[in-house]
Amino acid sequence: MQTLQQRYIEQLKKGVLNTLNRDVPADVIDPPSLEVLLQPAWFEHFWSGDALTMCSPTHLDNTRFCIEDCLARGVAGDLIECGVWRGGMSIFMRGVLAAHGVTDRTVWVADSFQGLPPPPTNSRDEVMYNFPQVVDVERFRVDQAKVEASFARYGLLDDQVKFLPGWFGETLPHAPIERLAVLRLDGDYYTSTMETLESLYPKLSPGGYLIIDDWGLGDLCGEQEAVLDYRREHHITDEIIPVDYHTAYWRKGG
Ligand SMILES: C[S@@+](CC[C@H](N)C(=O)[O-])C[C@H]1O[C@@H](n2cnc3c(N)ncnc32)[C@H](O)[C@@H]1O
Repeated sequence: MQTLQQRYIEQLKKGVLNTLNRDVPADVIDPPSLEVLLQPAWFEHFWSGDALTMCSPTHLDNTRFCIEDCLARGVAGDLIECGVWRGGMSIFMRGVLAAHGVTDRTVWVADSFQGLPPPPTNSRDEVMYNFPQVVDVERFRVDQAKVEASFARYGLLDDQVKFLPGWFGETLPHAPIERLAVLRLDGDYYTSTMETLESLYPKLSPGGYLIIDDWGLGDLCGEQEAVLDYRREHHITDEIIPVDYHTAYWRKGG
């Protein structure tokens, strides 16, 4: 039988996915491949609908695993998502801490809250992020007040949640973060990913987790390329573990 803690986390997951009071086909909510994701039903549910995250249940489960493993092994540090859109993944992170009664870790919520900037010309990111559908949603612009209101609706807006509004290149180098246990990258672009890694990877505790949301998109966006360049420059050889066709993560060694 599921404990109350497990039930809470499962219901929170359905809440941020907007599947609590409706049936959504499994391949829409958790597409097994990019081809399946690129169906109109996915965009209708996630972009036109009210879901608070476009991550899948599998991605939420992976983040939960990383947090709970750090709690179980006593890996020091806070949690951060860099690139939050409507905030559902960050709300889920705060909820996992709440479910475990953790009061000494912060969830950092880093975003421009103005969407992605126009993609740099001649970059990998130029094609995908100039698609009319992406431009129509203002490259994922969501105001901070809206994200805060969503946290509050779940009863999870408190002093363990700290917002870092602004461009990563300006906010992250000076962010008052001491140590991280989980660093989740979801800024899509090469530049956004590299800026995040340069500022925050050195703060990730040994044994902590780096999650790369768009790893599997390969050439479609610059996230994977930035991660590979950063690994090469810093001689990182920790095994990259695929979560599914889309996301990957590794546990920081050393
Ligand atoms: C794909 S969305 C994130 C999706 C989100 N993680 C979720 O749970 O659905 C990408 C986000 O990254 C943010 N972003 C990308 N590059 C950024 C940068 N350089 N500085 C600040 N925010 C950035 C955008 O504003 C957008 O909200």
